[in-house]
Amino acid sequence: MDNLIDRLAWQRLKNHYQLINPQHIKDWFANDPKRFERFSIAWENLLFDYSKNRITDETIELLCQLANECGLKNKIDALFAGSPVNTTENRPAMHMALRDPNSPFAEVKAARAKLSAFVDKIHRDEWVGATGKPIRHIINIGIGGSHLGPFMTTQALKKFAIPSLQCHFISNIDSDHLQEVFRKIDPETSLFIVSSKSFSTSETLMNANTARQWLQAKLNLTDVSSHFVAITADEMKAKKFGIDERNVFPVWDWVGGRYSIWSSIGLPLALMIGMENFSEFLAGAHAMDVHFQTQPFAQNIPVLMGLLGIWYINFFDAEHHAIIPYSHHLNYFRNYIQQSDMESNGKTTDLNGNALHYRTGPIIIGEQGCEGQHSVHQLFHQGSHFVPIDFILVAENDEEEFDHQDMLVASGLSQASALMRGKTYEQAYTELQKLGLAPEEIQNLAQHKVIPGNKPNNVLFFEKLTPKSLGSLIAIYEHKIFVQGAIWNINSFDQWGVELGKQLLPNILFDLQNASTGIEHDASTLGLINFYKQTQKFDLAQTEVPAETVPE
Ligand code: F6P
Repeated sequence: MDNLIDRLAWQRLKNHYQLINPQHIKDWFANDPKRFERFSIAWENLLFDYSKNRITDETIELLCQLANECGLKNKIDALFAGSPVNTTENRPAMHMALRDPNSPFAEVKAARAKLSAFVDKIHRDEWVGATGKPIRHIINIGIGGSHLGPFMTTQALKKFAIPSLQCHFISNIDSDHLQEVFRKIDPETSLFIVSSKSFSTSETLMNANTARQWLQAKLNLTDVSSHFVAITADEMKAKKFGIDERNVFPVWDWVGGRYSIWSSIGLPLALMIGMENFSEFLAGAHAMDVHFQTQPFAQNIPVLMGLLGIWYINFFDAEHHAIIPYSHHLNYFRNYIQQSDMESNGKTTDLNGNALHYRTGPIIIGEQGCEGQHSVHQLFHQGSHFVPIDFILVAENDEEEFDHQDMLVASGLSQASALMRGKTYEQAYTELQKLGLAPEEIQNLAQHKVIPGNKPNNVLFFEKLTPKSLGSLIAIYEHKIFVQGAIWNINSFDQWGVELGKQLLPNILFDLQNASTGIEHDASTLGLINFYKQTQKFDLAQTEVPAETVPE
C-alpha cells in the first residue's frame, strides 16, 4: 500500500492542484509586488529565487505539511546520525562526515592527512616517476562516481588550478578515448590514479591494465609502479593489481560512489587546486549541511527544491527536470547531477519492498546556458512536456580581457522570465501588426508565436564560482535528492538496477570472441553478435568451444 498517497497532506495537495493549475504565475506577480521577496532566500553568496514557481503561500504550507507527515526531520536526523539509511546494504550514508571539520570518524582525518601529504609531494616535485622526472600529468581512470565528480569539479574550478599540472580523464572503454589521452601526455611525467571504490569495475580495470601496458612499452620498463596510485575501499585488490599499499587512498562503504567526491576520490581535484582550496570546497558543502539540518523547511533551500520537485512530478506529472548553468565552467554539472539524482531515485520499490504506484525520480536533462536557447529551449517554451528548470547563474567573472558577463547573465534572466510570462495571442498579434504584416499573414502566424509561459523555474544565483560555492551547490542537490527519496519512501543509496547489464556482459563478450558457444541469447542479441562477428571477419565456421570455458 502506498501510504504516501493516503496522507492527509497528499489529499489536500491534490485538491490544491485543482485550484492552482488554472492560474498563471504572471498574474500572481501582477497582484503581489512582494512575491519575489517572499519567495527568495539569500544564503552565503547565493540568492535562491523560487518565485517563478506554480506556488502560493498555501502551496508551500501544504508541501511542508507533507514533509512533516512523512517524518522528514527524523529522516534527516537519522541520515546525519549515521543510521543504516541504505537499508538494502545495511549501511549508513555518511558523505557529510567527509566534509565535517569535527568528523566523528578518525579514519577520515587520517585519510585527509595522507591525501594532503601526497598532494604536497607532487606539488614539491618530490614524487618522481621511473625515469626520475616529477609529475606533470594526472590521469584519473574511473567511471560513474569515480569519474564524474573529479571530472566535473576540476572543470568547474579550472581557474583555481595550479599551472604546472594537467589533468586528464579516462572513463570510457572505447580505445579512442584512451588514445586521445595517451596522445596528450608524457609517459615519463604521468601519474595514473586508478579510482574505483570496488576495484572490480570492468571498464576501470581494463583501462588501468591497458594504461600500464602502454606505459611499460613507452618507458621500456616493467616496473612502472611509481606511476600508479589507487583510490579504493578494497586495498587487497589494489595491491593485487600491483599498487603499493602506501599509494592506496581509502574510501569507505558508507560513502556512495555518487557521493564520494568529498573523499579520496577527490584526489584529482585536490592535486589541481591544492589542499587549501579543497578544504574550502569541503567547507562550502559543510555550510550547506548545517543549513539543511537547522533551517525550518519553509526557509530550507534543499527542502524547498525537493518539495517543489515533488509538486511537479507527482501533481503536474512532470517526467523531466532541467538543469541549465549559465557558466562555461559548470558545463558538466548536469552530467554529474544525472548520476546523483537518477541513480539515487530512479526506483519503483519502497523501503518495505512494495512496488510503488506513483512517480519517483525525474529524468535529468539540461544544456549549457546560451547554447540551449538555440536548441532545446524551443521545447521548454512551446512543447507538450512540462519541464521544471533550475537556472544556475554566476554574477562575477574575473576574466579581465573580455566582458561578456552582462550579456550572459541577461540571457539567463531573459529565459527564466520568458518561460514564466510567455506571450499571449493578443501580444503576438500586436507585434505582427507593428511589423506591418497583412491581416491574413498575421492570422496565419500569430497562433504559432503564442508562448504559454507558466513554466516554473528556480534561479540559483551565485556571486562567484569558487571552491566553496561549488561545494555548497553540490550539497544542495545531494540534500534535495535525499528529501525526495525520503518523501517517496525509497532507498536513495543503493543501485541494484545497474547490476543486470554487468551480469550479461561476460557471456556476450565471450560469444563475440569465440565460435558459436551455445550460450542462450535472445534472437536480437544473437543476431547482433553475428553481425559484429561478420564485420570482424570472424571465422564463424570455427569449432565449438569447450563448455567449461564458457563464463558462468
Ligand atoms: O555501476 C554503478 C556504480 O557502482 C556507481 O554507483 C559507481 O559510482 C560506479 O559504478 C563506479 O564504481 P567503482 O567506483 O566501484 O568503480
